[in-house]
Amino acid sequence: MLSKETTPSVIVNYLDQYVIGQDDAKKILAVAVYSHYRKISTFRQGDGAIAKSNVLLIGSSGTGKTLLCETLSRMLAVPFVTADATSLAQTKYVNEEIEAVLQRLVDKADADVEKARFGIVFIDEIDKLKASKAEARVISGESVQHALLKIMEGAPVKLKSGQYIDTGNILFICGGAFVGLDNIMAKTHGFGFISTSEGDNQNILERLNKRVKPTDLFEFGLIPEFTGRLPIIAKFQDLSRDMLVRIMSVPKNSIYRQFIEIFRAEGVELRISPKVFEQISEIAIEYKTGARSLRGIFEELITPILYVVPDNPDIFRVEITSLFEDPCLLRRT
Ligand SMILES: Nc1ncnc2c1ncn2[C@@H]1O[C@H](COP(=O)(O)OP(=O)(O)OP(=O)(O)O)[C@@H](O)[C@H]1O
Ligand SMILES: [Mg+2]
Repeated sequence: MLSKETTPSVIVNYLDQYVIGQDDAKKILAVAVYSHYRKISTFRQGDGAIAKSNVLLIGSSGTGKTLLCETLSRMLAVPFVTADATSLAQTKYVNEEIEAVLQRLVDKADADVEKARFGIVFIDEIDKLKASKAEARVISGESVQHALLKIMEGAPVKLKSGQYIDTGNILFICGGAFVGLDNIMAKTHGFGFISTSEGDNQNILERLNKRVKPTDLFEFGLIPEFTGRLPIIAKFQDLSRDMLVRIMSVPKNSIYRQFIEIFRAEGVELRISPKVFEQISEIAIEYKTGARSLRGIFEELITPILYVVPDNPDIFRVEITSLFEDPCLLRRT
């Protein structure tokens, strides 16, 4: 799970291979995960001396929240599942739904309940529990939070198989976009949230003032008991054009690298100019879905070429220099 050598900086270095940017969030999550698994290995079960520190990730859609958690669990080789808080709110049987989530965790651990006990559960859309008047909810956002609290606190849960799973060591990560949070913070933090005097260290004060306060989250329907169980908060940045460009080409499993491999399998070299990635990023920014729209735009560009290539073994290289110009298909003579 976590060897002695797996320090927070080692975790961050691993994450860097797959997730672009989000340096603050990576560090916060790495330390949280490090101390979580350290606690588990240092303290015996039942000691109960140290409270669990679950994590809240705040960031726009498509900025890498799920990706970061997924990558982390892969590195730690612990089972990982995701669930949406909103879909938990759409059923009368919220406890059954939560059971099903834990069952999926056990499935991910190849039916090994022992292993599932150390898994990571990511609960997304935690910011959308407040029902607007228009949409009727089967159960209230509060009931969902109360149900979640129980397992976050470590209550044992009975699975369909009749087995019990101890949730005490499962790491819960919650996520949400929290649209408008910056405005709320600007309002509530404006009046000298922490007063300053000459001798205070401005950096520390600034950091404290930039912190999301639990009360900032109440407007999104979160209840105090719930925010209280999420002491660690990491904010994700919106992706800049430059970050989007890097997402397409830098990570080990980036879209560009994947397509280079696909073309190589056809005996063709794929070359795409940096300008093309910039053009794609511009469009993706318009779409406002973070990095999510990159693949679609990319595939649209590649599909017509990939249609032609397999039938033309004389093509040995494809060069794309602009999104708005025909690609250059080089053929053997
Ligand atoms: N920082 C990033 N680095 C690399 N790839 C990224 C990054 N952010 C997003 N992506 C890409 O975009 C896809 C969607 O990202 P992800 O699922 O992590 O978004 P999210 O933040 O969980 O969004 P949502 O709130 O909509 O669930 C990922 O599969 C990945 O390919
Ligand atoms: Mg997600």
